[in-house]
Amino acid sequence: MPISVKKLSENIGAEVEGVDIALGVDDKSFQQLRDAFQKYAVLVFHDQDITDEQQIAFSKGFGSIEPSLPNDPLGHGRPVFYISNVDENDLIIPPEDTRTLYQSGNMLWHSDGSFRRVPLRASLLSAKVVPPAGGDTEYASLRTAYSSLPEPKKAELEGLIAKHSMAHSRAQIAPNLLSKEFQDEIPPADHLIVRTISETGEKVLFVGSYASHIIGWPIDKGRSLLKKLLEWSTQPQFVYRHSWCVNDLVMWDNRYCLHRGRPWDSGSQKRIMHRTTLAGDGPTVG
Ligand code: SIN
Repeated sequence: MPISVKKLSENIGAEVEGVDIALGVDDKSFQQLRDAFQKYAVLVFHDQDITDEQQIAFSKGFGSIEPSLPNDPLGHGRPVFYISNVDENDLIIPPEDTRTLYQSGNMLWHSDGSFRRVPLRASLLSAKVVPPAGGDTEYASLRTAYSSLPEPKKAELEGLIAKHSMAHSRAQIAPNLLSKEFQDEIPPADHLIVRTISETGEKVLFVGSYASHIIGWPIDKGRSLLKKLLEWSTQPQFVYRHSWCVNDLVMWDNRYCLHRGRPWDSGSQKRIMHRTTLAGDGPTVG
């Protein structure tokens, strides 16, 4: 069956048909998918009943896998992150549990791994168990966020550097959510707010909940600008909202979009997702 790609919203996202990830994808199809990924930043595949190994093999068609860090509570150094409100005994983790609070950081707009010196390139998330209502994921176009800024604003932002930190993101949820070992693994990182994508030369607005302050600016002034830029970047017309079905796989380019999970009745409904991530191609600041 030939691959077909259908645009899902004005500024971001497309749905792909004609791919069976479990059967394997040939080189020609991978090239078509890479082109579509470049164009739409978010690709949605339905009915993909895949193992973790098949997800890893598919992910590698787009770049090198970046495994989770050894002390990452969702991945423990493995190539697959388990984003789930269910424990190893198949019981729902209570909403007030530290593990739930840590994961609720995913409900803040973010770009995966922007707290790393080399931020992650892309993520692939597959749905294993979904709640009957809620638990959607939203994607906002950072490409449109930048291109639609007035020219004087673009000039004002050029060269500004923000400090990105996991601790800053999780402090917005609750204190002490990160172990000392994990904090030591992820020192804050500096990134240009106006980021140029190496292979296309396109500019994007690189903001999100990991962005804590602006280097060389008073903290409050920097935070206020970052908050305004985040609001700008996540306007409804820049956003695609995905409502999950079991066996959907959605992949997104973390350079071109922010994403956030949406709430559901997590105290009584299970949601289990498996994520792989792809390594970035370099720091944004030399
Ligand atoms: C993530 O932030 O990587 C996962 C988002 C989600 O669970 O919807």
